Amino acid sequence: MQPFRELAVFSGNAHRELAESVCKHLEMPLGECEVFEFSNEEIFVRFMDNIRERDVFLIQPIVSPVNTRLMELLVMIDAAKRASAGRITAVIPYYAYGRSDKKDQPRVPVTARLLANFLEVAGADRVLTLDLHAGQIQGFFNIPVDELTAFPMIADYFRSENLQSPVVVATDVGGAKRARDVAERLGCELAIIDKRRSGNDEQAEAMTLIGEVEGHDCIIVDDEILTGGTVASAVRLLRSRGVRSVQVACVHPVFASKAFDALDTKDVDQIVFTDSLPLVHGAFSQVETATLSTAAILGDAIHRIHTGGSVGALFR
Ligand code: R5P
Repeated sequence: MQPFRELAVFSGNAHRELAESVCKHLEMPLGECEVFEFSNEEIFVRFMDNIRERDVFLIQPIVSPVNTRLMELLVMIDAAKRASAGRITAVIPYYAYGRSDKKDQPRVPVTARLLANFLEVAGADRVLTLDLHAGQIQGFFNIPVDELTAFPMIADYFRSENLQSPVVVATDVGGAKRARDVAERLGCELAIIDKRRSGNDEQAEAMTLIGEVEGHDCIIVDDEILTGGTVASAVRLLRSRGVRSVQVACVHPVFASKAFDALDTKDVDQIVFTDSLPLVHGAFSQVETATLSTAAILGDAIHRIHTGGSVGALFR
């Protein structure tokens, strides 16, 4: 039994290309929806199709300009609610503010939680997302959250690369669990870097490393790369230990412009990332890159949510 009338998928302005690929995978057209700013920067949204009682999915990673894209999504949810959509799922392939997930200094916000509140108040019934910075962000919501992961896809990619002696490297202790998962999928060893950050100035330093890397093909894995500081510092540490090659993989290529300066070097053999968000601040010219499409996992998850199937079963 299908609980809602018809599936309808729409995109904000954050990543229309991904929304189109998802719809191609689902073999359906992307819905028509106007999303634009007036000259006073206020956002206006209008669904051009009837969405009454429909099962509506709004695809919008929260990417640069972050606060505008977030507001677009909230206004889209509000417009869908007022158009009597049957159910509204916010599809957020990249959940910004994920690093602000705890009060780890005096007098600071927990913005990841604030975003969850915004989405619920706007009228979202569900959230579908991909590799949150911390899984417990799911608990900030009182509505169902399906969190997909691209790490199995990243592991598959490196399996097909047939590296001679791979070892997976976590950039910090917090990322050890997902790195271990990739290592297990590849049947190789894991190394962990002890990373320190001082203050709030986006400076990261790889202090030391646990594990054997000399002569190995190192695959650095992280959930996201922003300034590239974390990975650049890991690359320096690994190169100083005589590794054979350095591969870098992340799910979310947030890539501020300085990330291209930091990582577009011959010390990096390859950078692999997904299309969870578009590259808006530049491009690599020297280092080899590969982009893995998330359209199939997002499309399959949307289909399963719509038909009441298991989303977890996608990753078994
Ligand atoms: C931090 O805990 C994350 O997993 C990433 O390592 C971090 O967000 C990367 O940021 P950046 O590229 O600015 O060092």
